[in-house]
Amino acid sequence: MSITTSTLWRIHFSRRWPLELDVAHQVQWTKPERDLLADSLRQFQLGEGSDGCNLLRFARTFAAQVRDPDLPEAIAGLIAEEQRHSRWLGEVLRHQGEPLLQKHWVDGVFRSIRRAMGFGLEIAVLVSAEIIAVPYYAAVGRATKLPALQAICHRILEDEAFHLQFQAANLSLVVQNRFGLRHALHRALQAVICLVVWNQHGRVLAAGGYTFETFWHECDHLLDEVQQRSQRTARSRCASTFAA
Ligand SMILES: [Fe+2]
Ligand SMILES: [Fe+2]
Repeated sequence: MSITTSTLWRIHFSRRWPLELDVAHQVQWTKPERDLLADSLRQFQLGEGSDGCNLLRFARTFAAQVRDPDLPEAIAGLIAEEQRHSRWLGEVLRHQGEPLLQKHWVDGVFRSIRRAMGFGLEIAVLVSAEIIAVPYYAAVGRATKLPALQAICHRILEDEAFHLQFQAANLSLVVQNRFGLRHALHRALQAVICLVVWNQHGRVLAAGGYTFETFWHECDHLLDEVQQRSQRTARSRCASTFAA
């Protein structure tokens, strides 16, 4: 049995799974903090809680095409971590007496786009979603006074840093197998996502110290890093294939 990048990620997610976060709540939001954060967090809580059925179905088909049997289980590990983020945010919202969203048009649009396309485009959209999460949770962590929410943001940022590395590996797989999106197109897609996110969550990002320019540049820089990492992974995969 050969060890692939997906094998290592499958092991990574299984090792991180027991690291549960103790989300203890003692403090209630002040009115300004509630007005700032509740609606925005509800949207992210919904987005993180996707069941990932389509992603997993695409991953199984793609894994069979490229003979990468550990990929679906690695993707399942990612989905489980995202759902855990959703659960933590849901616990905060419930403790604050805030209802959770069942649906939202932004989440609906992203899900429809991803459902309509194959694994390659799904990964491109997910890369950008993981990228957006970095400035967003950094901003929430700075804007909130709730220790529990600060701890959640800290932990989500730690998880998302790994997710970006994982998605770079996935991106390298889809690009290498010609299922990927061209870099310029991916950049354009991310630009649209950034505009939508700033429109919906700009107040929270601004409260966390971002301007639209700094938010945009951070996202752009992270996309560069993911694409460079993905190219390095593809090169080393090619080198090991030829050496084998
Ligand atoms: Fe997440
Ligand atoms: Fe993530």
